[in-house]
Amino acid sequence: MRLAVTDRCNLRCFYCMPEDGLNWLSRAELMSYEEMLRASALLVKMGIEKIRITGGEPFVRKDIMKLLTNLSKLDGLKELSMTTNGVLTAPYVAEMKALGIRSVNLSLDTLDANRFFTITHRDEFANVMHTLDELLKHNIEVKINAVVMDGKNTQDILPMVELTKNMPVSVRFIEEMPFNGDEHSYQGVKWDYVRILNEIEGHYPEIKKLVDPAYSTAYNYQIPGHKGTIGIIAAYSRTFCGTCNRIRITPQGTLKNCLYDDGVLNIKDLMRSGINDAELEKHLVKAFSHRAADGWEAERLRVEKTGVHESMATIGG
Ligand code: GTP
Ligand code: 5AD
Ligand code: SF4
Repeated sequence: MRLAVTDRCNLRCFYCMPEDGLNWLSRAELMSYEEMLRASALLVKMGIEKIRITGGEPFVRKDIMKLLTNLSKLDGLKELSMTTNGVLTAPYVAEMKALGIRSVNLSLDTLDANRFFTITHRDEFANVMHTLDELLKHNIEVKINAVVMDGKNTQDILPMVELTKNMPVSVRFIEEMPFNGDEHSYQGVKWDYVRILNEIEGHYPEIKKLVDPAYSTAYNYQIPGHKGTIGIIAAYSRTFCGTCNRIRITPQGTLKNCLYDDGVLNIKDLMRSGINDAELEKHLVKAFSHRAADGWEAERLRVEKTGVHESMATIGG
């Protein structure tokens, strides 16, 4: 389960949201921590084993460590992890480790401070690199998420592959998706997973395919002798939908069976209507039984046809 705790963010990655931000949700529209915890406890009881916290940027929400602490205590939850942009994360790494968080996904699209500014509109590169250091120092497994954007950061592909030589990280190259909060600006996927792989293979013909973990979104590879690994995520091509076992809860409490659907249920509204857990469980089971065959069908079945341009920050990644 991917639980998005806020739509707000301290970066403005152009593939995610416009430079002047979004119409942020009001506090009342957001799920409270109590509601998140109640929903999570029920879903864990129903069989969810892994929760990934996303946003927006999770560390922008006040007291996020309180939520993590309470989630980490849920009986039956095997894995708690997080996707963060790393701007505010470094001071919390030791505490995260102490809570049992073993793996963190860090969004970082370039190794060049100037390009970082061009992509994110904020001068935060040094802070993100500091977070990367802290995570590795604390032996937390790190996956670096790099969205591949034509004309913006394709010159970073090979240096980021090279980063895996001495650093035990998984660098994942992600196809750009239309979720950028702007109806008009998506130009289609110019760098799909095949093109990304070709680019890497051209310079590292010795690259080896690894066995992908079950339900993996990434196709995984390694350059022999390198400490880290490489992943390619066909997020737009949607080639991994057949094994998808993810559900998502957006910051406003909407349950999504797929990144590309427009929501199947609002659990916050149900909880606020005074429903008990047994009734809520019935709604959830019903919602899970209406899963689209794949992300293409989910997109076709959307009621809100233009919404595929909503921001990743309001979906929660
Ligand atoms: P782990 O496998 O647990 O490391 O996480 P992840 O890759 O699912 O999560 P992360 O938040 O790091 O997301 C990396 C990229 O994969 C993002 O661009 C996500 O939107 C994309 N992604 C994750 N799940 C899905 C999915 O179900 N469908 C699609 N199309 N993309 C996804
Ligand atoms: N296309 C692909 N990936 C995206 N992300 C955010 N917006 C997009 C998009 N339009 C990625 C971020 C983050 C992850 C949760 O989603 O880089 O790492
Ligand atoms: Fe913020 Fe992540 Fe969106 Fe970038 S991709 S603006 S870091 S939520």
